[in-house]
Amino acid sequence: MLEERRKVISDSIRVVPHFPKEGIMFQDITTLLLNPIAFQYSIEDFVEQYRDQQVEVVAGFEARGFIFGPPIALALHCPFVPLRKPGKLPGETVSAEYQLEYGSDKIEMSVGAVKKGQRVLLIDDLIATGGTLAAGVKLMKQVGGEVIGAGCVIELPELNGRENLKGTPLYIQVEKE
Ligand code: PRP
Repeated sequence: MLEERRKVISDSIRVVPHFPKEGIMFQDITTLLLNPIAFQYSIEDFVEQYRDQQVEVVAGFEARGFIFGPPIALALHCPFVPLRKPGKLPGETVSAEYQLEYGSDKIEMSVGAVKKGQRVLLIDDLIATGGTLAAGVKLMKQVGGEVIGAGCVIELPELNGRENLKGTPLYIQVEKE
């Protein structure tokens, strides 16, 4: 991506200190959404990145992956699959757990949404510890999907989240502290 565009995206993200708790520097992408130029640069860049990778399904994580995933899916002419927090999806689901600082959480997907052998792109707004994306990779493995990559707007490199992803190529647009 052109440095100039990367800067527009980066500058549009508001940092809110001590939210949702003391010591956390919250990266707020709602201000990026208020800037249609920055939002468009971000989506266009993901589309360019994945255009030639034969993506068959785009899957996004609740909640903010639901903002970036669908426009990318439309541009790549792919279905969009929501990966939801527990208890939100009707019908039969498959799930994968991931560890939090204290305890664990789960993401769920509708059975049949991703078929065996499909090439899946995972999209989220941010990678911190990488637990969420790693659970997405685990979930796709369970149904036989092939994760070809994971794309996030923001990476917090200090948290080493990419180490949780091992073989999955990660593409990010901006790094933040
Ligand atoms: C945030 C963010 C990612 C995840 C990244 O979501 O949007 O999905 O955390 O963290 P990790 O790499 O440490 O797993 P959050 O759990 O706050 O959910 P929300 O989008 O519903 O607020």
